[in-house]
Amino acid sequence: MGLKVYIDGTLYEKDQAKVSVFDHGLLYGDGVFEGIRAYAGRIFQLDAHMERLFNSAKAIALKIPFSQQELKQAIRNTLDTNGLKDAYIRVVVTRGVGTLGLDPNKCSGSSVIIITDTITLYPDELYEKGLEIVTVATMRNHPAALSPRIKSLNYLNNILAKIEAINAGCLEALMLNVDGLVAECTGDNIFIVRNGALLTPPETAGILKGITRDVVMDIARKEGIEVREENLTKSDLFTADECFLTGTAAEVIPVVKIDQRQIGPGTPGPITQRLRGLFKELTEKEE
Ligand SMILES: Cc1ncc(COP(=O)(O)O)c(C=O)c1O
Repeated sequence: MGLKVYIDGTLYEKDQAKVSVFDHGLLYGDGVFEGIRAYAGRIFQLDAHMERLFNSAKAIALKIPFSQQELKQAIRNTLDTNGLKDAYIRVVVTRGVGTLGLDPNKCSGSSVIIITDTITLYPDELYEKGLEIVTVATMRNHPAALSPRIKSLNYLNNILAKIEAINAGCLEALMLNVDGLVAECTGDNIFIVRNGALLTPPETAGILKGITRDVVMDIARKEGIEVREENLTKSDLFTADECFLTGTAAEVIPVVKIDQRQIGPGTPGPITQRLRGLFKELTEKEE
């Protein structure tokens, strides 16, 4: 029996899980999503993901036809039906089937999709050796135009940056905002360590407020590490002692080279490794 995919209350075999070509999620990227992890059957930070999903939907005036509790239950059931313990869960809410025009009022009602699968974003060895990233020319969306806080189905901004990174032989791209300040990567938030303190761009830099980012800041504070959300320039990164990325799929991954410049000694730093270890421990015990 293959994987089953949830669409609007029904579980379909993977190859039968289909949406209409008139769905505004497809036609216009009109919808929102979340990427969530399950570790040993526990769904990590589910409440935080529900909160962000419902806020993303609210920001684009999209009504999710469930309460958070109901959606959580549907996610749990889909995971259990597929017998998955360690999984990546993709929750998608589209505007639903409409006409060829933009008007969302002509859509029949939002559609909810839950896909559960496994994921490997980066090869294991990069967690030991560290990742190389590159600053790209594609600027992060201006928050006044389309807020990066909304995890919408329109990821073109990130995809354009990803193409540049791949063309430069890197797996991830560093995106700056229109002020030339560090924002985030295409699917990850960025941190540096300087003089023992942890620094990361604030929300106002135009970033997605990552759930892994929040968890890592929390862990660091509990460890007595000073954490500051402040604007960073590229030169702050070049002169950092350590650098790492955070994300649901990536977890905590060290960065050792940016724009072909070595960060710190060019190996994953001690604070990065400590936080990575503590993050792993948390995924082994907490929901
Ligand atoms: C643009 C962007 N930034 C950051 C992140 C990391 O956020 P989280 O830790 O919630 O996965 C993601 C992934 O969700 C993302 O797509």
